[in-house]
Amino acid sequence: MKRILLIVGGGIAAYKACEVIRLLKKRGHAVRCVLTEGGSHFITPMTLAALSEEHVHTSLWDLKDEAEMGHIQLSREADLVVVVPATADLLARMAGGQANDLATTVLLATDKPVLAAPAMNVRMWRHAATKRNVARLRADGITVLEPDEGAMACGEYGPGRLPEPAVIVEAIDSALSRASLETIGKLAGRHAIVTAGPTHEPIDPVRYIANRSSGRQGFAVAAALAALGTRVTLVAGPVDLPTPAGVDRIDVESACEMAAAVTAALPAHIAVMVAAVADWRVEAVTQKVKKVGAPPALTLIENPDILAIVAKSPQRPALLVGFAAETENVVANAVAKRTRKDADWIVANDVSAGVFGADANHVRLVTANGVEEWPAAAKSDIAVLLADRIAAALEPS
Ligand code: CTP
Repeated sequence: MKRILLIVGGGIAAYKACEVIRLLKKRGHAVRCVLTEGGSHFITPMTLAALSEEHVHTSLWDLKDEAEMGHIQLSREADLVVVVPATADLLARMAGGQANDLATTVLLATDKPVLAAPAMNVRMWRHAATKRNVARLRADGITVLEPDEGAMACGEYGPGRLPEPAVIVEAIDSALSRASLETIGKLAGRHAIVTAGPTHEPIDPVRYIANRSSGRQGFAVAAALAALGTRVTLVAGPVDLPTPAGVDRIDVESACEMAAAVTAALPAHIAVMVAAVADWRVEAVTQKVKKVGAPPALTLIENPDILAIVAKSPQRPALLVGFAAETENVVANAVAKRTRKDADWIVANDVSAGVFGADANHVRLVTANGVEEWPAAAKSDIAVLLADRIAAALEPS
């Protein structure tokens, strides 16, 4: 259980903060809200209090509030301060270090990490002043998520929509599980390619061969790397997961498509191949196979091994990480796989115990120096640990 201080700013997207609270509570976190004057024109303190099951703080000048929990204590008792929606005005006041209401005073007084999810009109987002403010805040160590692109409440179209609540909650989880804030920004200027999910290999136009990969571990790795400031290209097989904030996503279906997308995304400093790529595909895919006579015999041929292609490429990344899903002899197979595939590291997981689709994972990291057993942890925590290790490995010595 972590404590989150949620600052709700004054924009139409304020109502989506309600869904963020609901998702955070579902994950077992405690949420306390600060509602700005602007925010209170869109939702009421009662809504936030009912969802968070906590008193809602609205004013710096409330004697009763200050006596019970002053603004300094409010800013310190949380593990993470989150701003949803971060309006252009709130971002500007944060960047300027102002403390002219409860929200900005808390943001200035806090010693905890801050994550802001912006939402505003597309022109306001693209304005030089907002760009300057966002750059300032990021340089100050504040995580500012990229807004979504799409139709806006004001009738215009473009970037400026609040990221989906599920994406904000993923980013919150990633920020919460980060051991130290020191690694943030360590991978700035680097490019990472991450593969995730299963592949679907067509049998005919309506049927396919698949596997049980959910894509969650790969998406968590992409999110954790992006949080360290690296540019991430996520090549995703068919999965139903939201794109992590700040990640460029390329959707593919089959292993051949995934291989093409990964090769096209090179060069990269880092490649993390988390996808459960199908080893075989059906040789001849024609029209829909009809149910006449005996069941058809499928001739399978081998798929390209994407990890091996990247390993042999003249543009081989400085750090190439593979995942190994094993059901027996996990360590021995993973150690052999590292050498056979010419990967730098292999993250080995025992998939005999229901890892697919689950929240948690139990892995071992196989490097040239040996095998490390990591404690069982949430996939997002494992992703953060891995991203931190990658940042440490790539640091100039
Ligand atoms: N991989 C890949 N392309 C493939 C098969 C696997 O890029 N066609 C990558 C996976 O993303 C993973 C690593 O190779 O990072 C190991 O995958 P795994 O399925 O465990 O290994 P295989 O080489 O297929 O070995 P086996 O199935 O025999 O265990």
